[in-house]
This record gives sequence, C-alpha cells and structure tokens, in this order.
Amino acid sequence: MGLAAGFDKDARCPDGAASLGFGFGELGTVTPRPQPGNPQPRLFRLRRERALINRMGFNSAGLEVVARRLERWRVEGRAVACPLGVNIGVNRDSAEPARDYAAGLARVAALADYVAVNVSSPNTPGLRAWQEGDALRRLLAALADACARLDPAPPVLLKLAPEIDDAALAALLDAARDVPVAGLILTNTTTARPPGLVSPRRGEAGGLSGPPLAPRALEVLRCAWALSDGRLPLIGVGGIDSAESAYARIRAGASLVQLYTALAYRGPGLVAEITRGLARLLAADGFASVADAVGADHRPRPSGAQHAAAISPAMARAAASGSGACVMGRPTTSAVAPARAASAGVATRA
Ligand SMILES: Cc1cc2nc3c(=O)[nH]c(=O)nc-3n(C[C@H](O)[C@H](O)[C@H](O)COP(=O)(O)O)c2cc1C
Repeated sequence: MGLAAGFDKDARCPDGAASLGFGFGELGTVTPRPQPGNPQPRLFRLRRERALINRMGFNSAGLEVVARRLERWRVEGRAVACPLGVNIGVNRDSAEPARDYAAGLARVAALADYVAVNVSSPNTPGLRAWQEGDALRRLLAALADACARLDPAPPVLLKLAPEIDDAALAALLDAARDVPVAGLILTNTTTARPPGLVSPRRGEAGGLSGPPLAPRALEVLRCAWALSDGRLPLIGVGGIDSAESAYARIRAGASLVQLYTALAYRGPGLVAEITRGLARLLAADGFASVADAVGADHRPRPSGAQHAAAISPAMARAAASGSGACVMGRPTTSAVAPARAASAGVATRA
C-alpha cells in the first residue's frame, strides 16, 4: 500500500511515506518550472462524506528543486526505506507539453523507482487531452524517445482520470503496447459530483477524492484489467479507506494500491489497520498472499506475483516487505526494467 501523489509534491520529506508505514510513496506532481498553483482557498473538506475537493492547480517548486533535493538525499547517503515514484506534470502555460513530460522523465529517471506521468489532473486546463488520440500518440512517442536515451530507463506508469471512457481506455491500452508503459495508476480525482453529496462544500470546483470516487475508480480498474487481459500492472487508487476497499481493488486487478484522502481523516494508524485487515481477508478467502488475489474476480488470470515485479524489482520487494502490504511472491522476473533487475541481481525474461 502506497501514499498517493499530492501529499509531498516537492520532495520535502522523501522518507515520509515509509515513516507513516506505507510500502511505497509517490512524490509530486512536479512541474518543469516552479509555479504557485491556484489562489487559496483551494482545498475543501466534505466532512459528511469523508471526501475532499481540491483545485491545487499543480503548485510546485519545480523540477530542479525536487531533483536536487532527491540528489542531496542520496549524496548524504540517507536511505529511503521504501521505493519512491516521482509523478511528473507540465506547467499551466507549457508551449510543448509532450517535450516537457519527456524532459521531466529524463531529469528524475535516475532518482525514482518509477515515474508516473500525470495526464489526469482536472485542475490544469487541457491536461486530460493527453490521454487520447493524436496527443496521446505524440506523448507516448516522446516518452519512448526519452527512455531510449536512458540506461536504465525507469518504469513509466500513466496516471489516468476516472472520466476516461471504455473506448478511450481500449485505445490507450492499444497505443501503450508498443512503448514502454510499465503500468497504469487508476485513478486521479473526479470532476463528477455523484448524487447524494450533502456537505456544504460539494459545489466547489476541482477534483473530488475519497469514498464518493471509489465506485468509479474501481470500475475503471476492472475495465482496464479486462481490456488488457490482466497483462498490465495496475495501481488502484481512489477512495480506499479500509481493508475491504483495498481488497476489492486487489481482487479487481490492482497489484498495488494507494491512498491519500483517508489519511487526512483517519491519520497514519489507518495504514496498519488496513494491512492487518487485508491479511485477515486474504486468509478468509484461502489466499496465501496478495499476489494470489490480484485479479481474482476475473478468471482465468495470470499470476499476480508477476505484476509488481513487472513494474520493477524494488516495487515487488515493497509488496513483499510486509510494510504497507502483505506477503507477495519473490520477484523472479522483470519484463519492464531488465537492466534494473539485472543490477539488482534478479533474473530477467528474454
Ligand atoms: C490535496 C490533493 C492533492 C493532490 N495532488 C495530486 C498531484 O499533484 N498529482 C496527482 O497525480 N494526484 C494528486 N492527487 C490525487 C491523488 O493522488 C489520488 O489519485 C486521489 O486523491 C484519489 O485517491 P484518494 O481518494 O485516496 O485521495 C491529489 C489529491 C488531493 C486530495
């Protein structure tokens, strides 16, 4: 279980996720140049629903500051106790977003266990257009080009919006087949306002997160698994606030899960509560590990054990570590990052 993007946008505390008990963290979103984001107030609690609406608008210290913080962390030899992804975005006034994503990827590649490409924030006008059509193809080509120049290239995951429809998701999975996309993060916040919201702030503009997002985030995850025949690693996020909701995401096809909003309401004790509860739910259904339950709602299914390993050996170790997750199979293969796997002494597929 990981800490989702947005909590530590500027890498102020790279070991924060581990200290809170998570098995992995995701820093960012970081934009190429610093920008202030939207004027405050820009974050609202919907207390009755235990939800949030945010329109932060990519407030970011910028790529250089974040990269230097991570470099300094390494130079000082300070160990980060869990794998860290870096989530990259583009400035609001970017003239060439595809080029900027590629530049961001190149800058953080050596500093991150994976790179999440955020094409789904609802608070940067036009950003979600990069999930589809020609824009998506141009973006994937730019990312592939950047990866070709890196040795090793980091695993690249795309973070998508819950509003993506089945046809666009199918097209994206098709397009992502020929380029090194290691997995999908499903999903970001929603611009929809599901019926039944009662909190006074429900009409604020921005992205809604927390339990009201959960049904749609689960649906998109299930759909992505089905469309990809369970071949692409998926990270489930959106409204996870209990062992039951984490388990449902795993059974629907998530190899790893993340949360953010529930942490704001429940505090860090929730992490241990969920992982202990997950262990009980797995045992009750006769699963020996999380890996065995990945995609269990869909049969037949490939072994879930291969999925976290397919993102990277470090992610598989995070899943196996027992902090923020239950027991996962020992990683033996890495389809995505063979160079990294080799350097970590892990056998790779041809
Ligand atoms: C205040 C706040 C800021 C966020 N910032 C980012 C961000 O910078 N990049 C990103 O990809 N997602 C961001 N998110 C989305 C979360 O990473 C997550 O996808 C979403 O909130 C759904 O998960 P949750 O219901 O567990 O919060 C943010 C969410 C919140 C509440």
